[in-house]
Amino acid sequence: MSDKDTLDKIYNLILSETGIKIEKERAVDFEIAVRNRVSKKSFQGEKEYLKFLESHNDEIINLASVFTIQETSFYRNQSHFDWLKKDILPRLIEERKKNKNYYLRFLSAGCATGEESYTIAMIARDLIPDVSKWRIDILGVDINELAVSAAEKGLFSAYRFRNMNPEYSKKYFDKRVIEGVEYFAIHSDIKKMVKFKVVNLIHQPFELNFYQGVDIIFCENVIIYFNQRSIEKLISDFHHILNDNGILFLGYSETLNTINHDFSLIWYGNSYAFKKQSDHAMERPRFDESLLPLAEMRDDFHGKINLNRPELKKELFYRILTACETQELNDCIFLFDILEDMVIISDVFYTVKGEYLFDQGKLLEASNICRKAIFINPTLLDPHILLVLIYLGLNMLDNALFELKTAAYINSQSVLVQYFYGKYYMKLGEQKLAENHMRQAKVNLKSNNDQFICEIFPVSKEKYKEIRAEINKF
Ligand SMILES: C[S@@+](CC[C@H](N)C(=O)[O-])C[C@H]1O[C@@H](n2cnc3c(N)ncnc32)[C@H](O)[C@@H]1O
Repeated sequence: MSDKDTLDKIYNLILSETGIKIEKERAVDFEIAVRNRVSKKSFQGEKEYLKFLESHNDEIINLASVFTIQETSFYRNQSHFDWLKKDILPRLIEERKKNKNYYLRFLSAGCATGEESYTIAMIARDLIPDVSKWRIDILGVDINELAVSAAEKGLFSAYRFRNMNPEYSKKYFDKRVIEGVEYFAIHSDIKKMVKFKVVNLIHQPFELNFYQGVDIIFCENVIIYFNQRSIEKLISDFHHILNDNGILFLGYSETLNTINHDFSLIWYGNSYAFKKQSDHAMERPRFDESLLPLAEMRDDFHGKINLNRPELKKELFYRILTACETQELNDCIFLFDILEDMVIISDVFYTVKGEYLFDQGKLLEASNICRKAIFINPTLLDPHILLVLIYLGLNMLDNALFELKTAAYINSQSVLVQYFYGKYYMKLGEQKLAENHMRQAKVNLKSNNDQFICEIFPVSKEKYKEIRAEINKF
């Protein structure tokens, strides 16, 4: 049996040195990994291994890397690379050409075996025919030495190309057979564009402080391993090395909802990324009090709301909620208009309006308004849930799944997340999975004292009752 105290110390050492947190569910894997290392390195036991770890950082990283899968492929997060290729990079290139500043800098953080870094290089090469005029820096970094040396070799198996247009593999790779196994070797002109380095991203001070003036950072599927503190620190370091308007891509299931940061969220279709803005541009539109008298002057307004009261917003929201609930549609439209005229920017307001538009069958407008709510507050569950409902209605199942995943990331205990997962699987005809989720929704409903963990959606009590009744059938 392993000594729990020693295992805890080893766990804490990994956390403090690499920022990598090992989930509770993986406690048994963790114990097995430690035991494997103890016997492989012929230590007497965990205590002796712990002593060794305390003075051997490389071994901490070896142990930790068992828990950070090096899973990757070319063009892995396709919509991000499409966005880079069709929108971000062409604009950046034009801007640089105009200023005669032929310079681009990328970071691929947590690059594993290099597929992400080389994908960036191929895209840049495609968009810049006169590449010799330019200085293009692409740096791929990873904590894992083996991964980095594999990246430097630039030899890949066919499996790594599963997400990529075959045109690319024809254009930028040569087939080679080594000891009977077929590989694809990246062309030397692409290889030359990328440098690799072994770097611990949460090392203090930040090991990449020398790499300033970065235009775009890809750090995909990496922060899932980190604890909150390490994420916050890393994101602030990224902010520091990025240029103004520089962009940070995280993995599909990774958001910055749970930390403080200075990025703003930007969207392209259903994809989002984080943009560093200059201090001026970062300022949110402010509530413009000079517009208040305009609203007061409207004669169809009964003057019941005293617009000078400090709880103005609260009261207006309350009225909107009541109007939606009682289906007083004219009141709804009117109140929404006043709020929008007054430039009151609020996530809650947009969500309520989203539901209202949804009820009117205006699905496109409803989804746009949800996006506005998410832009203001990505952590608000309700607009994501409302988007799921919209996408399910339109049979846009991939989009629905994307929103569901984001919602689950924000609050996995939510009754509605489980309920809509159920609905999603029903659409797919996966009855068993659907039932599992509905049952989980029921469990969550009970353990949450019968409360939906959504603040706003659904506004209508009728809809709330319907959903509740449906869940309780399972
Ligand atoms: C799942 S892979 C992601 C690869 C690639 N970014 C992608 O999305 O395809 C995660 C990588 O993060 C690396 N990693 C984990 N912790 C790290 C740290 N503290 N510093 C640098 N790299 C780290 C792992 O070694 C692993 O190669």
